[in-house]
Amino acid sequence: MDLKGVIEVTSLAGPALQGQVELLALAVFGDPTKDSTFKSADQALGGVLADVARTELFEGKIGQSICVHTHGRIPAKRVIVVGGGARGDFTNANIRDLAASIAQAANKVGATSVGFVLPVFGSNREATLVQMTAQGVHLGTYKFGRYLTGDEHKRPPSLKNFGIFSDAKGKKPSAAQAKAFASAVTRGVTMAAAINHARDLINEPAAVITPAALAADAQAIAKKHKGSLSVTVLDHKKCAELGMGMFLAVGQGSDQESRFIHMTYKPAKKPRKKICFIGKGVTFDSGGYSLKPSQGMEDMKVDMSGAAAVIASMDAIATIGSDCEIHAVAACCENLVSGRAYKLGDVLTSMDGTTVEINNTDAEGRLTLGDAITYARTKIEPDEIFDFATLTGACMVALGPYTAGVMSDHESLLKGWMSTADRMGEDMWRLPLIGRLREQLKSPIADMRNTGDRFGGAITAGLFLKTFAKDTPWVHVDIAGPASLSTARPSQPKGGTGFAVATIVEYATSK
Ligand code: BES
Ligand code: MN
Ligand code: ZN
Repeated sequence: MDLKGVIEVTSLAGPALQGQVELLALAVFGDPTKDSTFKSADQALGGVLADVARTELFEGKIGQSICVHTHGRIPAKRVIVVGGGARGDFTNANIRDLAASIAQAANKVGATSVGFVLPVFGSNREATLVQMTAQGVHLGTYKFGRYLTGDEHKRPPSLKNFGIFSDAKGKKPSAAQAKAFASAVTRGVTMAAAINHARDLINEPAAVITPAALAADAQAIAKKHKGSLSVTVLDHKKCAELGMGMFLAVGQGSDQESRFIHMTYKPAKKPRKKICFIGKGVTFDSGGYSLKPSQGMEDMKVDMSGAAAVIASMDAIATIGSDCEIHAVAACCENLVSGRAYKLGDVLTSMDGTTVEINNTDAEGRLTLGDAITYARTKIEPDEIFDFATLTGACMVALGPYTAGVMSDHESLLKGWMSTADRMGEDMWRLPLIGRLREQLKSPIADMRNTGDRFGGAITAGLFLKTFAKDTPWVHVDIAGPASLSTARPSQPKGGTGFAVATIVEYATSK
């Protein structure tokens, strides 16, 4: 997805109150009457802003906003004031949401241009705030409307230019500041494009996004970046030759052929390190013979969210550039029932030779990922492996719908990952890989079985994967909750979120 020319995010020179924009936007933190930009805007508008704030009980809290007409008192037609909450608690996720709400408000009132006064939090936070603002604008105006036929869905959104005032009073930025601003905008817009692309892949029905369709998408992305990005797609036969007995078993009940996708980004210079991102790519999860009830199956087109995230991220990584060699791997298949489907009690042989007894065909993700991890470890030999998977309902029971569960035994790798996630405003929380729970995976007839007990379900899934990662530094991210949401926030409409893309791209492209 190319977002250039959809909404332009640009730098505006102050003074903000004289800006030639249709909608002027400011953020206040707590009591608006104590904010200097608010006070000068209020003065210019003859006191109406403070009046409205008082009568609307606007206290500058997160989620609150007021919007007033200026009646020609300043060039902007309207002023919107959004609440930022307590200054000390203001996160990068918060500015992403503020920018998203402002962009939505602009479209609602038919404004074509916005001037947003960037809140000041010191110079070392400015670039990230600009990046997250640019991201929020495009994430907040995302809509999956392909299948909506009413006229109201066809009207193009009004907003064309989202300008940012880095300084409300109009102090000119230095050349270095201007350069940092431009690169922050590029990063934010490029990431948002990748996130929105992942959302499209997740929101499309499973009838459209088959394993072959995901492979075609990866090929289209590679074609865009000829020279730095390449892709190999392995079909059933090739995977069988490599001995991917777990991966192939999951897809064997479907008429859709399984596809193993491997994308490679190579920097111009000798790479600093090799990183491999693996995504779970089950394009529909019926549960197999351990069939899910209808309610639990309803949203199972999202079970390829990990694959969508790693594939879409490669587009942004190739655009921004990295000094690392980056690989994206996705073992894609559909988990269905048929006369050919795998069964409970089957014993599968994985690519690394480990045998696995199936005691639940609905624990399919770990089977596909296990072989993907072995492929990465032996064919790519990366310095670091990260996997992203809508793996367990148990992870959602533990952490709720908004937070990913992160498991790793590699402290320094984990630390670097978690701080990147925090900077990108993606909610992640560590779960322990408790070794004792491995006893749940014992099988009387094979090296292990694929499912443990109900208690500790997210962790036993992690322990299962660890078997295949062996000594390679590895981080497992269970995104079952945040991959798709039934409650919206400004920067995330309902449905596929594109979760993990921002952190993957940031991790891969920062020094
Ligand atoms: N794809 C599901 C997990 C899932 C659940 C993702 C809800 C998103 C939302 C996964 O394949 C699955 O079915 N897991 C089972 C594992 C169990 C059989 C050990 C689960 O969580 O019930
Ligand atoms: Mn399942
Ligand atoms: Zn699944």
